Amino acid sequence: MHNGIFEKDQAARLREIARKGPGNGPDTIPPVILTVTSGKGGVGKSTVALNLAITMCDFGKNVFLFDADANLANLDVMLGISPDNRLGNVLRGELSIAQAVTFPYNRLTFLAGSSGDARYPHIDGSIQEYILDQITISNEQLDYIVLDTSAGLNKEIVNYSLYSDESIIVTTPEPTSVMDAYAMIKIISMAKPEHRFKMIINSAKSQKEADETAEKLHMVVSHFLNIQTDYIGTIPYDELVVKAISRQDILVKKYPRTRASISIREIARKIIEAKQTIKLNKVAHV
Ligand SMILES: Nc1ncnc2c1ncn2[C@@H]1O[C@H](COP(=O)(O)OP(=O)(O)OP(=O)(O)O)[C@@H](O)[C@H]1O
Ligand SMILES: [Mg+2]
Repeated sequence: MHNGIFEKDQAARLREIARKGPGNGPDTIPPVILTVTSGKGGVGKSTVALNLAITMCDFGKNVFLFDADANLANLDVMLGISPDNRLGNVLRGELSIAQAVTFPYNRLTFLAGSSGDARYPHIDGSIQEYILDQITISNEQLDYIVLDTSAGLNKEIVNYSLYSDESIIVTTPEPTSVMDAYAMIKIISMAKPEHRFKMIINSAKSQKEADETAEKLHMVVSHFLNIQTDYIGTIPYDELVVKAISRQDILVKKYPRTRASISIREIARKIIEAKQTIKLNKVAHV
């Protein structure tokens, strides 16, 4: 028993249901789980997760945005909402996922993380898997689960990547950020060599700087780890990102024509185009 609520057997049963889909029918394909992570803090994970999720909704996809930042969550603040219920309530067994979520935008389901919750429980891998399975079976129309992690490189953060279909690694051009992104990719790929990585260079001052950063990371990852990363785009440094966050506006809604929003739309398009392949792989593993 974990935290008084989660049985391992129960989690295993749910995983089985999640794999088959709620209807157990051959047509039910589980959503693609994308974990946004970085290693280093403050590089734009939450900005990317939030704006990407909303853009994918605008493209007609049903998205579940999960703020998995362990007790320093702030997607709700960025969304300008203050939900009564959060991940902490679910982890303590007080609420189901369906009871804890909100619907801030059309097609978007949101589970707020906890922040400064003194009763936030310690969680382990089986609980994380259980939560993801619960989200998967909560709505059979879901196309994507977008998961925003906290900074750092601990077991909890790595587990979220291991349980997802792909990790979206966000880095700025700063060498410290690139180094942390490399460390994150290394730890994840050691545990799961077949894991897929997408790479986003954020806050770049120029396309040249972004491309050089992507090339550098790609080189070290392929040379030392012998794995490939998929560079899916650059988000330029854009003052309107800062303005949108400080005013609790959604960048892609408030400033759809600014350069950062245009880049996020291009990235969302690439992810959606790639989805078919992932889905086919998923079915093949069932
Ligand atoms: N493309 C950008 N252009 C300008 N500023 C940006 C950009 N992306 C992020 N920022 C700035 O960086 C700050 C941190 O972004 P964000 O909260 O998304 O990072 P994070 O990686 O989620 O941080 P944490 O590790 O604390 O969770 C934002 O408040 C914003 O001011
Ligand atoms: Mg964040």
